[in-house]
Amino acid sequence: MAQRWFGFLLLLLVVLSVSIHCCHSIQEDHSHTLVNEDQVPSEDDDDLEDLEEGMDLDAQIASDSFSSAEALAATKVANVNDKDVERVIEKFEFVLLLGYAPWCTQSEELLPEFTAAALRLSQLGNPVLLAKLDAVNNPSAAAQYEIQGFPTLVFFVNGTREQYLGGYSREEIVRWVRKKTGHAVTTITSKEEAESFLSKNVTAVLGYFETLEGPEHDAFIAAAKAEAETEFVQMTVAEVAQIFAESSILPPLIAVRKQEPEHFTTFRGSFSIEEIASFVEINKHPLLTVLNSKNANMVYGSPMKLHVLLFAEKMDYENVRSLYLEAAKDFKGKVMFLVIDMEDQEFSRPMLAVYGLDTNKPVVAGLNNEDGARYFLESDFTVDNLKTFAANMYAGRLPVYYKSEPVPAENEGLVKIVVGKNFEEIVMDDTKDVFLYVHAPWCATCEKVGRVFEKLAKHVQDVPSLVMAKCDGQENEHPLLLEVPNYPSLLLYPAGRKSSSPIEAESKATWKKLLIFLKENVAIPFPVSNDDEVFSNAASRRETAELDTLINDEL
Ligand SMILES: *[C@@H]1O[C@H](CO)[C@@H](O)[C@H](O)[C@H]1NC(C)=O
Ligand SMILES: *[C@@H]1O[C@H](CO)[C@@H](O)[C@H](O)[C@H]1NC(C)=O
Repeated sequence: MAQRWFGFLLLLLVVLSVSIHCCHSIQEDHSHTLVNEDQVPSEDDDDLEDLEEGMDLDAQIASDSFSSAEALAATKVANVNDKDVERVIEKFEFVLLLGYAPWCTQSEELLPEFTAAALRLSQLGNPVLLAKLDAVNNPSAAAQYEIQGFPTLVFFVNGTREQYLGGYSREEIVRWVRKKTGHAVTTITSKEEAESFLSKNVTAVLGYFETLEGPEHDAFIAAAKAEAETEFVQMTVAEVAQIFAESSILPPLIAVRKQEPEHFTTFRGSFSIEEIASFVEINKHPLLTVLNSKNANMVYGSPMKLHVLLFAEKMDYENVRSLYLEAAKDFKGKVMFLVIDMEDQEFSRPMLAVYGLDTNKPVVAGLNNEDGARYFLESDFTVDNLKTFAANMYAGRLPVYYKSEPVPAENEGLVKIVVGKNFEEIVMDDTKDVFLYVHAPWCATCEKVGRVFEKLAKHVQDVPSLVMAKCDGQENEHPLLLEVPNYPSLLLYPAGRKSSSPIEAESKATWKKLLIFLKENVAIPFPVSNDDEVFSNAASRRETAELDTLINDEL
């Protein structure tokens, strides 16, 4: 079972990384909206002068597609290519490289953010160089730096590659880069600075100390450096701390401040880096997070492994948001409450498919991101039901969800239809030998094998101890069906031995060979009808082999 769960997690990761990186838009010329002017880093360096070739700064600033602020920002981004990228990366202590595709919508959305971040970082005197690479037209550089999807951000420290773990808005890029370049904490000294900081509405970890030294302060700084995306601020002035806490507080104190109802959470642990880090990890997420391709890494990387997911279209979400928020409050730091916008189909459809769902109606599901177990809210969307759902999930009391087609109303055919929900009843029936044919809609050989299976079923229809059954393995799940090696699979679950693994038959066999297989492997022997006489003594391998030469293969 573990193997299949692992497969599921991989699938989820693939789904996520595909949605993060894949650009499905058709090739169009959006170059007029891109920052496509060649630019140089704001660094006097002769080696890099050839970067300036072809640059037309005047034209760029004059162009009416740029406001002057944008034009200024654009000058802070170096345009690199196959020839010079390596040299640029080697040259600078810190480089944030953006690999983009000119026709990619997501690249197009990121570029202005990237450009604005470059300007801001430059204003702050940050030593980083932000560089962009048209990965489509510079394939060897793209290959060298493993830029496979667009957009991709890669960070380099003294030429050594590091994973970019920040967000994709200008603020998030700036915050992440500042942390990586040694500005882990901002010191706030006046009421004005405090108010201006708070007006940005960002989540912040605040440290209020008597002095900016000592072991407690050291631990705070170390935690700030280790954390990738949250703003850390420190202060020693009581009036400043009071503005953040909205009440008077005493040092030393660490807290997370967010722009939401329960916005101030005080740290109660001992001042070790581990405890501070874990406190921040658990408390930095908002009560509700709209999960999308941009923050998926952060959400799936969180130590909070239990997720409640609301799939909804915008209108529906507006209607239920307050209920959802109400339920989320009780599970702060325990269960992450996520919202997935069903209108973002590229992202939501694969996630829904994991639950076997294809719907526009709001649904609530659960995920344990540690073991891949899925859950499903069957009851109505009420605050109480949501709370019970999350509480049971937290307590490990929720039945794991398996996807299933509806149980067929009529199931009296020669080959019974098995779905997730009746698997237990039909296949696990200890009094019967069950021969199960597992197929998938996309499997090319399944149809043929299905016909052979039907033929065999006709042949054994009078055997009361034997059930012939089939199951669409794509649409139906059951813990005991998890290890279907491939499609089609023919699996025998012998009577009285349901707890051990099924016996697999060769799926390319003729119906006669399958009959021999059944006779050799069923727990309850069945008598031989006239037609079968030829097989009655076929127990030994030698005779079976002889038979093979006599039987006219149908396949
Ligand atoms: C990069 O290399 C320089 C020169 O060797 C060194 O002084 C600096 O500390 C290095 N930067 C980082 C972040 O390791
Ligand atoms: C911050 O939040 C307040 C109140 O919720 C809002 O009026 C303001 O526009 C927000 N500011 C920013 C920069 O988002």
